Amino acid sequence: MAETPSANLKTPTDLKTNAAANVADALNGILADSFALYMKTKNFHWHVSGPHFRDYHLLFDEQAAQIFATTDEIAERVRKIGQVTLRSIGDIARHQSSKDNDADFVAPAAMLKELRDDNLALVEKLRAAKDLADDAKDNATSAIIDDWTDGAERRAWFLFEAARTG
Ligand SMILES: [Fe+2]
Repeated sequence: MAETPSANLKTPTDLKTNAAANVADALNGILADSFALYMKTKNFHWHVSGPHFRDYHLLFDEQAAQIFATTDEIAERVRKIGQVTLRSIGDIARHQSSKDNDADFVAPAAMLKELRDDNLALVEKLRAAKDLADDAKDNATSAIIDDWTDGAERRAWFLFEAARTG
């Protein structure tokens, strides 16, 4: 349920409040999952091991940077449509629907699969958010979601190919 912005934070918009709140709800969930995926990708960057260390270490760092770059865009879309976004690590945890991985050791193949699945889950959430943005006539959110979707699909593709064994 979207937080009602205080009067001081109501950015002017012609969008209907209820429809904008639905978009903000979806975007705040995507933002939380993006921070969680950023952290997981960095976790794997730091803890990966084995003969493909260099490849995977660098791939995960590149993907973490891509994910991190989307977080500011997501949060600012929420503010541009007159809604409020996340404020803390606790707020991320409350809005996050993807799972953390705090395991002592994760095999490299399992890292590739888990990140691929998380990125594909993000794509599903982005598609659902795009429907809400279209319903709200929020065409700027709808358009930028296409870029975020393309990035997540690109990451899933790289993770899929890197996981091939032959
Ligand atoms: Fe690093």
